[in-house]
Amino acid sequence: MAKLKTVYLCSECGADSPKWVGKCPQCGAWNSYIEEKFEKTSATFTTTASTIARPTPITDIVANAVIRIQTNNGELDRVLGGGIVPGAIILIGGEPGIGKSTLALQVALNLDKKILYVSGEESAQQIKLRAERIKSTNQHNCFVVSDTSIDRLRNNILSVKPDIVVIDSIQTMETDHIDSTPGSISQIRECTAILMRIAKEENLPIILIGHINKDGQLAGPKVLEHMVDVVLQFEGDNNHQYRILRGIKNRFGSTNEIGIFEMLGDGLREVTNPSELLLSEYSQNLSGVSIAGAMEGMRPLLVEIQALTSTAAYGTPQRSATGFDARRLNMLLAVLEKRAGFKLATKDVFINIAGGIRVVDPAIDLSVAASVLSSNADIPITHGICMTGEIGLSGEIRPVNRIEQRISEATKLGFKHIIIPKYSRYSDFKKFNINVIQVARLDEAVRTLFT
Ligand code: TYD
Ligand code: MG
Repeated sequence: MAKLKTVYLCSECGADSPKWVGKCPQCGAWNSYIEEKFEKTSATFTTTASTIARPTPITDIVANAVIRIQTNNGELDRVLGGGIVPGAIILIGGEPGIGKSTLALQVALNLDKKILYVSGEESAQQIKLRAERIKSTNQHNCFVVSDTSIDRLRNNILSVKPDIVVIDSIQTMETDHIDSTPGSISQIRECTAILMRIAKEENLPIILIGHINKDGQLAGPKVLEHMVDVVLQFEGDNNHQYRILRGIKNRFGSTNEIGIFEMLGDGLREVTNPSELLLSEYSQNLSGVSIAGAMEGMRPLLVEIQALTSTAAYGTPQRSATGFDARRLNMLLAVLEKRAGFKLATKDVFINIAGGIRVVDPAIDLSVAASVLSSNADIPITHGICMTGEIGLSGEIRPVNRIEQRISEATKLGFKHIIIPKYSRYSDFKKFNINVIQVARLDEAVRTLFT
């Protein structure tokens, strides 16, 4: 029997070392080395250069037009930059139960292309049961196999001749070339390398489903993310039915795009007009509620910001934010105190973005501040007003990007007034059927809202 070799691999970057080290010399991560035992039986993965590539002037290279495969799923296509590129490896990561398998199967069941769905997690019967719940238009093109061996995949590809392969999930796959357990760094790395070769040789797109660990990172080494062409993250709150598919890396498109879905009893529904959905429970005349014109990637999105302030029961007041950066909240409270004179130091402040979504766009600052003040004074913000603007440390309202799209979205949803930063680059507001109020400073905005 061949001797097992012990190596230590960095779970961040995949670097190896014969002994354990506290800090990875390659990527600098601390405490990331994991012991793995494996036996390398054959060295099949040395590249055989059948065609020797020569340096060519870039002007002489002919770019063939890429025909992308449309997935019949508008939101997914949008995040992918207009469909699946042949030969691309797409990694979809997300927490357990978020809907990764549902999304992949739903695409497989609604495409007029042949799909091979390889599941290492569920039996063929379980997949069939799931498929029965999901609305489908083209079931007969979907081939399912419950298998964990990457080495058998090539044969399955030869017999089915699929147009797309789905691997659910990369952490359950194994290859005989490496003698360590599925999900270990060396297995993930090797299996992905084999899949990459298959994808590039056959010009076959492969969708990989990946688990994420407790820190929200894709499980397995960072090299996995480096190897694949597209990394998408499926996120959302298990208690809400909305799911957001975010592009993290995309060699064939922008990573600014997001796709929004709603998990229903019969699969994922595409949400094409997210603002309407997020504002559907927007109630009038409640203090502490305001509407922000945010952007998620390239899409305008109106979100409802809720705030609650109350007198702190203990010495140190609590500050908590759901869907918003808590440090930024502290900064906004400091600005409100110092630049606009509101005494909030003894108040507990809670912020929540309705619908369970997370917004990183700083343009919602103004709305967060307005909600806090509205709750603090117990004065509701007039219905029909929305606002957008980043707040700077000196209390100035800073310009935000894509102001035209934000105004247009607010108009579309029937808002009568929008507060925007004074020094916005865009100035043709007349064409919108909305009253545009420009403010330069926080105190000006406060006066507009509360007098
Ligand atoms: P799943 O797609 O298996 O998640 P993942 O592969 O990311 O772990 O399951 C998603 C959850 O969605 C599961 O708890 C059941 C639920 N669900 C629905 O609400 N409607 C459906 O039509 C389906 C198929 C699942
Ligand atoms: Mg799954």
